[in-house]
Amino acid sequence: MNNRMTFTFQSISENVTIARMLASALGAQLNFPLNELEELKVAVSEAVSNAIIHGYQNAPAEFVTMEIETTSEKVMILVSDSGCGIADIDQAMQASYSTDPERMGLGFVFMKSFMDELNVESEVGKGTKVKLVKYLASHRSSSH
Ligand SMILES: Nc1ncnc2c1ncn2[C@@H]1O[C@H](COP(=O)(O)OP(=O)(O)O)[C@@H](O)[C@H]1O
Ligand SMILES: [Mg+2]
Repeated sequence: MNNRMTFTFQSISENVTIARMLASALGAQLNFPLNELEELKVAVSEAVSNAIIHGYQNAPAEFVTMEIETTSEKVMILVSDSGCGIADIDQAMQASYSTDPERMGLGFVFMKSFMDELNVESEVGKGTKVKLVKYLASHRSSSH
């Protein structure tokens, strides 16, 4: 069944839980196995946390949007913020790179390893869009 939805929520950490529950519920409808639902939840949490923490520096009056599209073979989630943006995406995606010394710099590493596709678009001062795609094993080809 094809399904599309858009979910826009305030930039507060409590909403990370809601975002991951939504991703998990949709993934469960597609019959992703439990371990892959966990992977999906982690990837979505990382993307949404980044929007809140880095994009908006925790400013609660800002909004994060999650656009979700499911088909019988995959789930696609686009997490966007209109926050500060990323100056150097390649650098930001490197393992252990973080602009915050308190953080581990593994968010993008998890997103990349747990999803079949990860695409990041960002513009300084405009915001960031992170596209995450995960295929059901039966539809996962070696190219994704
Ligand atoms: N939505 C975003 N807006 C602005 N900067 C971001 C965003 N997402 C990631 N970044 C930048 O990319 C870096 C790496 O992100 P990540 O791999 O999740 O590590 P961490 O969150 O632990 O710093 C962040 O430290 C931040 O500088
Ligand atoms: Mg992160």
